[in-house]
Amino acid sequence: MSEAADQIFATLRHQAQSGAPLYLQLRKSIEDAVNRGLIGPGDALPSERDIATKADISRVTVRKAVQDLVKGGILVQRHGSGTFVAPRMERVEQSLSRLTSFTEDMARRGMVVRSAWLDRGLYAPSPDEMMVLGLSSSELVARVARLRIANDTPLAIERASLSASVLPDPADIGSSLYAALELTGNRPVRAVQRISAANLGDSDARLLEVPPGIAGLHIERISYLASGKVIEFTRSIYRGDAYDFVAELRLTGPSEEGRP
Ligand code: GLP
Repeated sequence: MSEAADQIFATLRHQAQSGAPLYLQLRKSIEDAVNRGLIGPGDALPSERDIATKADISRVTVRKAVQDLVKGGILVQRHGSGTFVAPRMERVEQSLSRLTSFTEDMARRGMVVRSAWLDRGLYAPSPDEMMVLGLSSSELVARVARLRIANDTPLAIERASLSASVLPDPADIGSSLYAALELTGNRPVRAVQRISAANLGDSDARLLEVPPGIAGLHIERISYLASGKVIEFTRSIYRGDAYDFVAELRLTGPSEEGRP
């Protein structure tokens, strides 16, 4: 850690009279130092004991500030080797007006895509799946759940459900669901996507390699064939620190008002 960054803790010693709890002041000093680039991704923080001495505060206070920053994804702790500034995520800008697949989106950016399988198989459909896919209780649903990884960074967990009549062997889709659907003439041509904020639960956070509770995006996509039939019902969790969804907006003329 640079001398300039070392100053953060020494400065805190002289400023620690502003009334705010000390751990909040320390947390803010570290956050400011990261934002101003005084300490960068991958830099190691001094030990708890060193920070406590430099800032003239207790180790309990240091621990509380550091734990808060780990929870917020600013710092990461590696067992046995210490505390570091978290690697910065390169954000992916994603258009909301094109119906593309994850593989296509990442390939266009020159990123290497792979997936880890979480589940694939045929199941009795849930009430949600029956309703959205128009299945009866005697039909089966094909489920394909994957952790989507680009350039070795896990970006999303995607759980797709399709009618088993469209995807009788979910183990057979290869690396792209949309490429597999294209082969059988079932690639969707239209989709409705709903995006909402979600805090990541423990198991999703573990898969996405982020601290539990951090902000994520819950995305639901219902895709249609040209005939109007629903082909795909996918529920995904995306890392909130990795995506910017971008939509182009146009002024609506009076003649277009009320159109969907
Ligand atoms: C996007 C969509 C999913 C879709 C997937 C297909 O990520 N959000 O709804 O299932 O693309 O991607 P691929 O063809 O790479 O499997």
